[in-house]
Amino acid sequence: MTKKHVALLFGGNSSEHDVSKRSAQNFYDAIIATGKYDVTVFAIAQNGFFLDPESSKRVLALEDEQPIVDTFMASIDQMDPLARINALRNGGDFDIFFPVVHGNLGEDGTLQGLFKLLNKPYVGAPLRGHAVSFDKALTKELLTLNGIRNTKYVVVDQQTAQNWTWDQVVAEFGDVVFVKAANQGSSVGISRATNAEEFSAALLDSFQYDYKVLIEQAVKGPQELEVGVIGNDEPLVSEIGAHTVPNQGDGDGWYDYKNKFVDNSEVQFEIPAKLSAKVTQEVKEMALNAYKVLNLRGEARMDFLLDENNVPYLGEPNTLPGFTNMSLFKRLWDYSNISNAQLVDLLITYGFEEFEKNTQLSYQFVALGTEKVGKFN
Ligand SMILES: Nc1ncnc2c1ncn2[C@@H]1O[C@H](COP(=O)(O)OP(=O)(O)O)[C@@H](O)[C@H]1O
Ligand SMILES: [Mg+2]
Repeated sequence: MTKKHVALLFGGNSSEHDVSKRSAQNFYDAIIATGKYDVTVFAIAQNGFFLDPESSKRVLALEDEQPIVDTFMASIDQMDPLARINALRNGGDFDIFFPVVHGNLGEDGTLQGLFKLLNKPYVGAPLRGHAVSFDKALTKELLTLNGIRNTKYVVVDQQTAQNWTWDQVVAEFGDVVFVKAANQGSSVGISRATNAEEFSAALLDSFQYDYKVLIEQAVKGPQELEVGVIGNDEPLVSEIGAHTVPNQGDGDGWYDYKNKFVDNSEVQFEIPAKLSAKVTQEVKEMALNAYKVLNLRGEARMDFLLDENNVPYLGEPNTLPGFTNMSLFKRLWDYSNISNAQLVDLLITYGFEEFEKNTQLSYQFVALGTEKVGKFN
């Protein structure tokens, strides 16, 4: 049987560029380990240009990236309107795209739009699933509409934000809130505010990243839970993992950028999370329901905040979960005895299935030419 050809994309222009390399290394090894696929890699540089496969392989191997990008940029016609994606011509014909680009481009639906234009199968959720899940306001609106518990919130723009004095915020949400740019990730554009000064600084910070900002009730002393979901129409849910950051229980600690990426040596992980059977079941059900209402396919990680009374709130979906050696998404499947090779084989199979299913949809329309039109009176 001829091997299917996978195009693995990684990097991108988000703060998770380097995390993506580590995720992509593990995915690459796992895809090779299946013995069923050939893989060509494409790095997306921080400037948004796709690099050729040879350069991309060196970037994946963690060679110093900047000189590789500089050489590549000097070798191409940057004025070519398709210069950014031209490198895709240099890898042969692919059967499926496997995006491992966290954050912007990868997780907001942009790349999925490109795959759709190219009429190729791809791993993971469709454009709309990514796009709504990347927007924290749209996500919460959809969750709320479908009765999936999430923290109380309001969405503001520059104008309506001025209606919210700190006293009003406290009256509505309590004396600790999170302020978040709607379309961001990695805890960038997010602050925890406990007084008027912090609140105005938080708004200023968030509005740097988006015109739409959320003010959100804080879950006090939360336990953070993560659960993996894979599949299409009948998705599978992993066991639940937990992590706690320093001072989170009774202090002001939260999973900020530093705790996530700069130094997470003090973050404590637990697999499986020690939860009652009731909470375990509720979290898994909420994760599966959210997967459905957010139009997700292929893979996702659902994050939860568990309050002091063991009530779970859906925190956020992640439609391109990290797959580094530290990533709970990877470790949860390890724990569930699904090897990395089995996991990627499933993800690729779901991608082909989804593409196949979509080809059954009708795109027929009645050709116009002799149409009858209404009259304006
Ligand atoms: N309502 C909340 N209550 C308590 N902690 C929160 C709340 N919202 C966010 N956090 C903290 O901020 C972190 C980042 O928020 P999240 O909504 O997951 O955004 P991101 O997309 O940046 O990961 C969470 O992991 C958690 O530590
Ligand atoms: Mg998060």
